[in-house]
Amino acid sequence: MKRIAVLTSGGDAPGMNAAIRAVVRSGIDYGWEVFGVEHGYAGLIAGDFIPLGQRSVGGIIQQGGTILGSARSEEFRTEEGRSRALRELNQAGIEALVVIGGNGSQTGAYELDKMGFPVVGVASTIDNDLYGSDITIGVDTALNIALEAIDRLKVTASSHQRAFLVETMGRNSGYLALMAGIAGGAEAVVIPEVPTEPEAVAEEIRIAYERGKAHAIIVVAEGATPEADGLAQYFKEHKARLGFELRVTTLGHVQRGGMPVASDRLLATRLGARATQELAAGNHGVLVGLRKGEIVTTPHEEVVSNTKTLDTSLFELARVLAK
Ligand code: F6P
Repeated sequence: MKRIAVLTSGGDAPGMNAAIRAVVRSGIDYGWEVFGVEHGYAGLIAGDFIPLGQRSVGGIIQQGGTILGSARSEEFRTEEGRSRALRELNQAGIEALVVIGGNGSQTGAYELDKMGFPVVGVASTIDNDLYGSDITIGVDTALNIALEAIDRLKVTASSHQRAFLVETMGRNSGYLALMAGIAGGAEAVVIPEVPTEPEAVAEEIRIAYERGKAHAIIVVAEGATPEADGLAQYFKEHKARLGFELRVTTLGHVQRGGMPVASDRLLATRLGARATQELAAGNHGVLVGLRKGEIVTTPHEEVVSNTKTLDTSLFELARVLAK
């Protein structure tokens, strides 16, 4: 092998740069030339390759986001788009690709590998909903950002005896909301995996008020049922019997923009380096992730045909500890 490329795709995640750095420097250590693909699969289709040397990735380990840029490419979902990307890769003499990203990105990686082009994936998404890795790049940083917000909101909530509804990211996954709820001592958590009724949440908040709590924090995942907006509306309509007055804070992309914490830098570094090791050993069509504390590979076919489940016993724990 002489030439490989690396790209970041889908939602950016703090730690992606550490993974790029690891791929570049470990690849060069194997004696390869390493290219970066700008803006994910969109850049792959456009042939936007840039040579990356050891110095190109200097000083980026502590930076959030991705120096390569990322995108969600509709075109790459089509066979035509993927064929164009393949042509560009062949023309540039690139022999293998490392894809750093979450579910959509790894599905693209699987499709490209099936077309005969060697691809290794690196598990990265703040949602932590990727099968094949217990934890993914960016999760811990996003969680810490959410926690800091919750801690701060609790202070002002207590001053005014208010309830705060805090919406975290995760359109299909309640991992961030649940973990932030547990670690932040929330009074209620609402996640997509456990649909509920607004009245059930309202009842928990009413009970918290009756118990004499000075605040109530309700952490709601973006994709939960009910959604944050609907819940806020319900609370407004039933304000008189809830006790607490409600305010809403949507954390949104703030969670994605952080400087990666130590655990994300280390995870990204280990996963990125392992990706080149796999390529050097002639392996591809796999995702590199962390399972039971070990860096392991999982065939892309298995990754895309399975859904990672959330440990809902933790949801029960959050409920018990909210008392
Ligand atoms: O997949 C990561 C994520 O941040 C989700 O939690 C969120 O639903 C989505 O991306 C937002 O996507 P975009 O940045 O394209 O608005």
